[in-house]
This record gives sequence, C-alpha cells and structure tokens, in this order.
Amino acid sequence: MEHSLRIAKSNDELADIFASVLVKHINETPDDRCFSWVLSGGATPKMIFEKIALCYKDLTDWNKVNIFWGDERCVGPEDSESNYKMARESLLDKVPVPSSNIFRIQGESFPADEAVRYADQFLKNVNTVNGFPRADLLMLGLGEDGHTASIFPSNIQLFSSNKLFETAEHPQTKQKRITATGKIINHAKMVVIIATGENKSTVVARIINKSNGCDLLPASCIRPEHGEVLWLLDQEAAKRL
Ligand code: 6PG
Repeated sequence: MEHSLRIAKSNDELADIFASVLVKHINETPDDRCFSWVLSGGATPKMIFEKIALCYKDLTDWNKVNIFWGDERCVGPEDSESNYKMARESLLDKVPVPSSNIFRIQGESFPADEAVRYADQFLKNVNTVNGFPRADLLMLGLGEDGHTASIFPSNIQLFSSNKLFETAEHPQTKQKRITATGKIINHAKMVVIIATGENKSTVVARIINKSNGCDLLPASCIRPEHGEVLWLLDQEAAKRL
C-alpha cells in the first residue's frame, strides 16, 4: 500500500489538487473501460464538487465515469440531508455525466434491503479483481471522532463486515445510514481521505502518527491491500503532524 500526503494552502488549492488527481486518473483509463468514482458526503466534498463543475468540466470524458456513493443517509433524494442531493446540485447537474452512469443509494428504501440492492449494483458496475469490486477512486471524509463514510467508532465492526454495504446509525442523531464497508474501501485502487479545519487536526495526527488508541478509530482501518492512499489536508488539519 502506497501512502502519500498533500497539504494545501487553501480550500481552493485542495479542490484543485483533488480535481487534478481525478481528471488525470479518468483520462488514463482505457477507452473500453469505465472509471468508478465513489463520492463522499459532507461539507468538504461539496466545495470540491463545485470546483470540478466550474473549472474541470471540459477536461475529461464524463461518459467514462460511473458515479457511486460510499455512504448515504436514509432519507429521500430531495431531503437536505441527502448526500446524493448535495452531489447532484453541486456537480452532477453541471457536468455531462449520463444519468445511466449515476448509481444512487436509495435512501428512501428500507435500509437492510437497500444495502443488499446497492451492493449488487456496485458489484455489477465496478471492475472486479479477485472477486472484489475495485473502485478506481474512493473519496472519504473524516469525522472528528475518526469516523469515515458512515462507520463510526460505536460500530467499527462494520469495517470488517463480509458484506459490501451495511446499514449503520449515527451515534448522536440515530439517523439510519447505508455505508460501504472495508470490503470496498480496502479493495479500492485509490482512496483519497479529505480533511480540513483545525477541528480535524487531532484525529488526523492520531491516525497518521499511529498514536496509541488509533486502532479504535474507523479511519485507521483504511489500508487498501493493493491500492494507494492519499491524505489531502489543509494546513489547519495538518497542524499537529
Ligand atoms: C457523511 C460523510 C461523512 C463525512 C465526515 C466529514 O455522509 O456525512 O460520509 O463521513 O465525510 O463526517 O464531514 P465534513 O467534511 O463535513 O467535515
């Protein structure tokens, strides 16, 4: 596993770094194959999506891109909490990705059934290596508590589930979630972990420095066997490294 770290001077530079990595990898994908991009929710990805829509829209062939989500809140697609709604408004409605290439987690469905349905969709539409779907680029955020996707410290066992997607629950709000598990995260070709703001600096340092107790944090389980991990931080989130 290859580990790298980029520290951006601003959110705008961070968005440019992510966008450049994404476009480079899409453009390197053979024309006879799709590129699977797994999106994350949260505020940080939103500003990245907006930058891509504004400045990178014409720099790649969106017909080659299949869009998935690493997690979703169990709400409808028009709900303000929906990761799909955020991505649709900030990116997908602004770039020419075919609607048939967008694989939405149906947050309005019964969670356990949707976790099964979506896992099947993922398996059918993502390149598979050794029996596991190998996402080309998997985008992950990081919570202050060390959660990633919707795997929280209180349900860290989901990371080692033998399923591709599981149902989860936000520890405070009890909001139901659908989340990718380690079976997807640790088989990805590239994982980009994005964190900005001083409030993430402690958890970032704990995980990257492998401080004691970090193994209780879901994000510390991110170790793609044959993949690359890029930590993409701003200076605030990196200040304790
Ligand atoms: C979600 C995300 C979640 C998010 C982190 C960081 O659905 O909310 O998957 O894991 O990435 O909470 O969010 P911010 O980038 O907003 O801090």
